[in-house]
Order: sequence, then structure tokens, then C-alpha cells
Amino acid sequence: AAAGQAPAPEFKQDIARVGVVGTGTMASGIVQVFAQAGYDVVFVGRSQEKLDGVYGYITKNLDRAIAKGRGTEDEKANLLGRLTGSTEREALGDVDIVVEAIAEDLEVKLELFGDLDRIAKPGAILATTTSSLPVTKLGEATGRPESVIGMHFFNPAPVMKLVEVITTDATAEDVAETTRALTANVGKIAVSAGDRSGFIVNLLLFPYLNDAIKLHETGVEMTVIDAAVKETAGFPMGPFELLDVVGNDVSLAIQKELHGEFGEPGFAPAATLEAKVAAGELGRKTGKGFHDYS
Ligand code: 3HC
Repeated sequence: AAAGQAPAPEFKQDIARVGVVGTGTMASGIVQVFAQAGYDVVFVGRSQEKLDGVYGYITKNLDRAIAKGRGTEDEKANLLGRLTGSTEREALGDVDIVVEAIAEDLEVKLELFGDLDRIAKPGAILATTTSSLPVTKLGEATGRPESVIGMHFFNPAPVMKLVEVITTDATAEDVAETTRALTANVGKIAVSAGDRSGFIVNLLLFPYLNDAIKLHETGVEMTVIDAAVKETAGFPMGPFELLDVVGNDVSLAIQKELHGEFGEPGFAPAATLEAKVAAGELGRKTGKGFHDYS
């Protein structure tokens, strides 16, 4: 390594087969990322319909890339051939790492990690993509907290380079090093972060998004706010456009966690964010959020 640079992380254990739990936007993107890097991926969802949704997401992305002259039908077929969808968690019994990307709900994740502890082979890494819940607690739900780590991808996962790697006091150094090596191997940049709500990026990003909604509640047009932000900081999207990409349900869950952990009065979720979620206006995924996509 060059002077002043940390040496590149090394694999301390073999990672050949990757498991992903979940079928939402993040899970779909993460399945694509691993398959694109050449890994066999087993992904688990609650119904065949949801599994089909993951294939649909990836097929759409690959078709768009092919239309732009990047990639071929053969490569697409090979990539899709590396995927195995299953409605049974037991299908994760022989993977080397499981990446959990299900609902941002502690009880739901605790139940899953307890079950992964039963199902996953000894030594398998159990990673969570949580963006605001304590990784430590998920580790404690297993009999192998040394194998539990956070691997926080950003949306859209196939495009965004950053992965926050979250270690707890219990995470084994070899597990952390392997996770950083895996992150680099799929073309991403690992940044280490401590186990506190929001890690680095979301702690900065979501209070800003929440403030944008509160500013709008005072009467400023969303389009004006979006345009002002894009034209100044060079952000690729304005806050309302980004909220619609992330999903208002996800944003509300994160904002509630940040508010709960730090107790900052200003972190209280904006009333309009709560209302959007109650109305089922979750963003692009439902065709309407702050903006209309119908
Ligand atoms: N899946 C895969 N690829 C996608 C994609 C998707 N959902 N959306 C866009 N892309 C690809 C396009 O194919 C295109 O690829 P190419 O340049 O190689 O041809 C490239 O991304 C650019 O896309 P477009 O030209 O269609 O549109 P944009 O230039 O507007 O880029 C964007 C889209 C990458 C989403 C960009 O607008 C952006 O960077 N937005 C900000 C996203 C962001 O900040 N994400 C973080 C959210 S916070 C989070 O995730 C935390 C979590 O805890 C919730």
C-alpha cells in the first residue's frame, strides 16, 4: 500500500455463495450487485410473486444497460442463471454470507436473526443492511455475535458506491476484514462506522430530508426546494425527489429511530411524512409520493 494508505482488505474466509433475505428495492439491488460480480446468489422471499419481483427488477436494469450498449443478452442469461429464488429460509443452509434486507423493524429482524443462527452453516457471516437499528442487538439474537456485522448499502444499490461496514464490540476482526474485502470485490467502497443510529450518512441525510418537508409545510413549493438544492450543492436530486426514491415508509422508520436515539426535538418526523405513509403514498414504488409518477 502507498504511504498513508491502509492496506487492501484480504479475505479471511472463502465467499462463493451469497444469501440475501428480502425482495424489496434494496434486496433486489443487492442481489443484482452480487450476481453481477460473479457470485451465486440464493435469495429468500415470502411468496413466488415477490421472488418474481426481484427477477423483474434485475431484468429491467439489465435490459436498460443492454439498450445503452453495455452488456449482452448472453451475459444477462448468465447472470440470471446465478440466481436461485426460494420461499424457504432453509435454502440459506450452505451460503457463506447472508445479507438481510427486510423491513426496517427491530422485532422482525430479531426473529430473522434467531432463525438464521439455526439455519446458516458454522462460520457463515450474518450481515444486516439496517440503516438505523442496533447491529449489536441483532448479534445478541444469535449464538454467534462474532459473525454478525452491518453492511449498509444505498439506494439504488447497483449504482451507489458506498457501503458502510458496521462492526459491534463482538464482531470478529476477520469477519470485518472479509466483509470489507467482499465490498471491494463487488466494486463498492467500504467505510467503517460505529454501531449508532444512522451511522454516518443517514445521520446527516435524514434530518435534512425531514427539514425539507417541514420547510414545505411552511408554504414553500416542493419544486422550488428541489431546484434550489440541485442548483447549489450539486446534489443529483432534490430532497423530495430523493424521498420518493428512498420510500416514505423507510424514511419515516429511519427518522423515528434517529429521534428516539438522539432525542433532538428537531428530529421529530414531519407531520406530512407521517401523513404520506398513512395514505400509502410511499414514493416511486407506489406511483405517488411527494411527486406523482402515474
Ligand atoms: N437500478 C440500477 N441502475 C440504475 C437505477 C436503478 N434503480 N437508477 C438509475 N440507474 C443507472 C442508470 O441505468 C444509469 O446508468 P448509466 O449511466 O451507466 O447508463 C445511471 O444510473 C444514471 O441514471 P439516469 O441517467 O437514468 O438518471 P440520473 O443521472 O438521475 O441518476 C441516480 C439516477 C443514480 C438515482 C441519481 O439521481 C442519484 O445519484 N440520486 C441520488 C441517490 C441517493 O442519494 N441515494 C442515497 C439515498 S439514502 C439511502 O439509500 C439510505 C438507505 O438507508 C435508505
